Amino acid sequence: MLAFSDTVRGRIVDGVLAIEIDHPPVNALSIDVRAGLSAALRRGRDTPDVDAMVITGAGKIFIGGADIREFGQPPAEPILPAIVAAIEASAKPVVAAINGAALGGGLEVALAAHRRIAMPSATFAAPEVKLGIVPGAGGTQRLPRLIGIPAAIDLIANGRTIGAEEALKLDILDRIETGDLLAAAIGEARALMGKPLRRTGECQAPALPHEAIDTAEKKALARARGQIAPREAVRLVRLAAERPLPEGLAEERATFLRLRDSEQAAALRHVFFAERAAAKVEGLESVTPRDARTIGIVGLGLMGSGIATAVLDAGLTVIAVEQNEDAASKGRVRIEGLLDRSLQSGRIDAAGRQERLSRLSTSGDMTALKDADLIIEAVFDDLDVKTNLFQRLDDVVRPEAILATNTSYLDPDRIATTTARPERVLGLHFFSPANVMRLVEVVRCARTAPDVLAAGVAFAKRLRKLPIVCGVTEGFIGNRIFSAYRREAEFLLEDGALPHQIDAAMEEYGFAMGPFAVFDLAGLEIAWARRKRQAATRDPKERYVDIPDRLCEAGRFGQKTGRGWYLYQDGKRVIDPEVTAMIEAARAAKGLAPRAISAGEITQRLLAAMATEGTALLSEGIAARPSDIDLVMINGYGFPAHKGGPMFVAERMKEQRT
Ligand code: 3HC
Repeated sequence: MLAFSDTVRGRIVDGVLAIEIDHPPVNALSIDVRAGLSAALRRGRDTPDVDAMVITGAGKIFIGGADIREFGQPPAEPILPAIVAAIEASAKPVVAAINGAALGGGLEVALAAHRRIAMPSATFAAPEVKLGIVPGAGGTQRLPRLIGIPAAIDLIANGRTIGAEEALKLDILDRIETGDLLAAAIGEARALMGKPLRRTGECQAPALPHEAIDTAEKKALARARGQIAPREAVRLVRLAAERPLPEGLAEERATFLRLRDSEQAAALRHVFFAERAAAKVEGLESVTPRDARTIGIVGLGLMGSGIATAVLDAGLTVIAVEQNEDAASKGRVRIEGLLDRSLQSGRIDAAGRQERLSRLSTSGDMTALKDADLIIEAVFDDLDVKTNLFQRLDDVVRPEAILATNTSYLDPDRIATTTARPERVLGLHFFSPANVMRLVEVVRCARTAPDVLAAGVAFAKRLRKLPIVCGVTEGFIGNRIFSAYRREAEFLLEDGALPHQIDAAMEEYGFAMGPFAVFDLAGLEIAWARRKRQAATRDPKERYVDIPDRLCEAGRFGQKTGRGWYLYQDGKRVIDPEVTAMIEAARAAKGLAPRAISAGEITQRLLAAMATEGTALLSEGIAARPSDIDLVMINGYGFPAHKGGPMFVAERMKEQRT
């Protein structure tokens, strides 16, 4: 065995130097790995006992990309582009034996090899744009030379992950090996000896077909809203067809280094590590989650049917219950409709749709839930309705079954305490549409048992969602912050801004929709009902904006009634002078003199409102860490990921001031 560094070793088999990267957990290309790879390549090049080389990874990952932890520091030698160049230039054949994920710099190492073979389970991606950067070791120049410009734009500017089959079809891969990968790679390396080597960088990327290139660009940039990296990625990939390799590589490297130090990259790195941190829940380190394979769902409205679809997508069994058989069959139709949409968009095929439905049973009889491990209620958000339901469930379900409420605003502790076993109750707050939205707030009630909480987290992960654990408060993390956001947006109205000005400022900042467009989409009546409930206990000294009440009284409940903060004509939102007049009248009634409010003030005040509420949630122990709050707002409320979330923004602003 040859040791090239602490993380890279090799052995010579049949004249082939098999180089193995062993740097858990993901074989990231840290400085030690780069030094080891460099030494290994030199050894292969300089000694006559080596005729060819193979590069592979230990464990289940080939190479998980550059070491993201090093991104805050200046690049250290040997740099990855030099290693990649050495692989490609090697006179002796180099084969990449891809044993798992080849991501970012990992894909770039593979692209430089003279042949690529992979296990069927291997995956491929250039996920750099998700970190606010572009590939920095030749990805934007070599991938298009191998697979053409449109496909390279699709992969690089979207950061899309593909499997081995698709990689083979695209010509990223030369072969899929179902047997012994290393042995096969050694055989391939030997077979290449003495033959002309295919060097990716020497291939020509055709600047055609123009239409496909433009379509790929348009598609990628439509999703990129405000993000710099996807735009730069497209520009660089296009260069591959226009410039010689060294020029393209130099431009790529300069762009990579510039973006690496950008604010967007810092924000997206924060999001990356925030997601990993959120997975570590205090108190659950050594807890085995209670089993949850058969999932009961009560209530098949919009939310319940969305949750059911997400559970079916995850390969689990669903027992869905409604008040009666008629409602149950309507619920089934709703789920079928959601699956049909997946079918139409190509996300699943007809067989997949059928297979999912084979795992669904619907019933109008609650006793059908006796075999469920985890029961999620998604019925009308009313305390009496929910407590009543949980008491009935107590009698039906197995003693160890878990009961979850999907309430948005009610106190799950009050629901739990009415049951015989409050320790098996938790909140699972999904976001609509539940089969699409990634966020799930997993609510730890006062008496929730650790293995029940762990089951909630594991279940959400199984659904490929992002679970964020939080404590009990009205609206949990997201809706509490959203309420503060709403409140500040309403203050802005009274102070002088109009809905469309506020929305434009937030959309310019990066939100897909401004607050008033969101209120209209969600409907104004639920918040109205809450305000009416709270009226009796509201502090009269508290600033209260009654404009939304006036809107609701006028029957303006948002998009579904064609009128809300805006007028909706042919699906388009239009400024409504009637609303402007209502706002002006409300200001006048309070004797408020409106002033011009800049877009800068609007964003600054709305961001500050969110961060202030977030700080309160932290001090109350509702959220475990600021980054959890950022993830909630990004994944549940459209906060632009490339800004890092309200807590990250507040922290950066504080740093800049000091
Ligand atoms: N660098 C540093 N640490 C990394 C890392 C990376 N590239 N990828 C993952 N990690 C760390 C995580 O932070 C986590 O650490 P922790 O245990 O201390 O929290 C640990 O590895 C395990 O990660 P996951 O929990 O994400 O493990 P999974 O098994 O769920 O997923 C993965 C593995 C698919 C590799 C996933 O981690 C991933 O997508 N990683 C990011 C890959 C990436 O973006 N690479 C591109 C980097 S940029 C680049 O290569 C630039 C180049 O062009 C020059």
